[in-house]
Amino acid sequence: MDETSKNQRVMVALDVQGREEALVLAKALQGSGCWLKVGLELYAYTGPAMIQELKALGFPIFLDLKLHDIPTTVERAIRGFVQCGVDMINVHCSGGYDMMARAAHAVREAGSTLERVPKVIGVTVLTSMSEDQFRQEMGVERKLQEHVVELAKLAEKAGLDGVVASAREAREIRRSTESGFLIVTPGIRPTWSEAQDQSRVLTPHEALEAGSSYLVVGRPITRAEDPRQALEKLWVR
Ligand code: C5P
Repeated sequence: MDETSKNQRVMVALDVQGREEALVLAKALQGSGCWLKVGLELYAYTGPAMIQELKALGFPIFLDLKLHDIPTTVERAIRGFVQCGVDMINVHCSGGYDMMARAAHAVREAGSTLERVPKVIGVTVLTSMSEDQFRQEMGVERKLQEHVVELAKLAEKAGLDGVVASAREAREIRRSTESGFLIVTPGIRPTWSEAQDQSRVLTPHEALEAGSSYLVVGRPITRAEDPRQALEKLWVR
């Protein structure tokens, strides 16, 4: 894979609180081919205008707001986000089959006149949730990994393009879904960086080998003195 094709599989998490800070990072990464991920934090401070500004710099945008509401509300919100120009958006799989199916339908319909129809993916189980919490607080009897794989299969059946999951679960999801199903994995740490608060980290190469389609990388790039160089060094073994 050449440098640009590799970067096209990297989503840089712009977890900053202001437009200026986001633009400095975006300009440093401009032209590399990578995606930008706008999450709740940046969105809370800057709103949809930020998406349009980042798009204008040439980046594909993953809007990571993890929607979870009744099907009609999710469907209507998604139509709005598609109009903002996002290339990928996500919903919680635990919203159920109908909600996911309506989200998929809304993206395809609202995106049908665009050059590329955006992707809609599902969040399985948050990786911040432990196996114990999952059983005791959520009252779910089956094993967490089994639940994640079942949700991924349900998401596929509902017409979603893929899921967000821990790279730890990527192999099993890959085995249980069709080959084009997208697996987006956070918790990526290149060999030269610290784990910070991520506990089950994988290197970029390990994540790809486990079946990841896209790697979400935040602080190793955004907190680096030279973010562009950090992106380039991502694949050092
Ligand atoms: O800085 P770091 O590389 O840890 O950033 C990871 C990004 O992925 C953050 O935006 C975080 O919210 C997100 N994320 C995650 N684990 C999940 C889902 C999303 O770390 N399960």
